[in-house]
Amino acid sequence: MGFYATHIVPRIIDVACGMGEADELRRRVCEGLAGEVLEIGFGSGHNVPFYPDAVTRVAAVDPSDVGWKLAEKRLRASSTPVERAGLDGQSLPFADHTFDAALSTWTLCTVPDADTALREVRRVLKPGGALHFIEHGLAPDENVRRWQHRLDPLEQRVFDGCHLTRPIVELLTGAGFTVTELDVFYEKGAPKPMGADSLGLAVAP
Ligand SMILES: C[S@@+](CC[C@H](N)C(=O)[O-])C[C@H]1O[C@@H](n2cnc3c(N)ncnc32)[C@H](O)[C@@H]1O
Repeated sequence: MGFYATHIVPRIIDVACGMGEADELRRRVCEGLAGEVLEIGFGSGHNVPFYPDAVTRVAAVDPSDVGWKLAEKRLRASSTPVERAGLDGQSLPFADHTFDAALSTWTLCTVPDADTALREVRRVLKPGGALHFIEHGLAPDENVRRWQHRLDPLEQRVFDGCHLTRPIVELLTGAGFTVTELDVFYEKGAPKPMGADSLGLAVAP
C-alpha cells in the first residue's frame, strides 16, 4: 500500500465517518449489543462511545495502524475492554462460535472480498448471534444506481477500494445470514449515491 492509502485515507475516513447524522446511526446500530463482540473494520473507533454497558469485550479487526492510533482518545474515554485482535476480516483468527454478536459499520464497501468476510463473521458467531450492520451500497432507485455505477471507479480510487454498488442484503443472505431487521434509507446530508444505507440485524444459523 502506498503513502496515500496508509496515511491519508484513514484520516479522511476518520473525519468523513464522524459527520452528519452518523452518531445517531451508530447509536441505533449498537443498540442491543451484549457479551463478547467482534467489530470488523474498526477504523478509528467511532463506535466505541456507543457500545452498551452489556458489552464485556470487543475484538477489533482492521488493517489500518493509523486508524488504531486515531482511536486512542475514544478508547481512553471508554470502560469497555477493546483489543486489536486481527487485521483482516476475510481471515479471522478466532475459533468457530466465539462471539455473542458482531458489528460492522460502513465496512463491507471496502473489504476486498465482502462475501468471504461475511462467511468468516458467520463462522465465529455463536448460533443465533447477530451481526449488527449499517452499510452503504447499491441504492433502491434505478436513477441513483446509474450514478453509482458511473462514480464507482472514482470512489474506489479516492477511498482506497470503497465500492458504491455492493448489494448489502444479497451479500448477507448469500453468506448464510437471516436478515431479521432492516431499514433502507438515504443518509441525511450525504449525496444519494454515497449514502444509500442499509441498517439492521443479520442472524447466524
Ligand atoms: C469506511 S471505513 C469505516 C470505518 C468504521 N467502521 C467506521 O464506521 O467509522 C472502512 C474500514 O474498513 C477497513 N478495512 C479495509 N479492509 C479491511 C479488511 N480486509 N478487514 C477489516 N477491515 C478492513 C478500513 O481500514 C477502514 O477502517
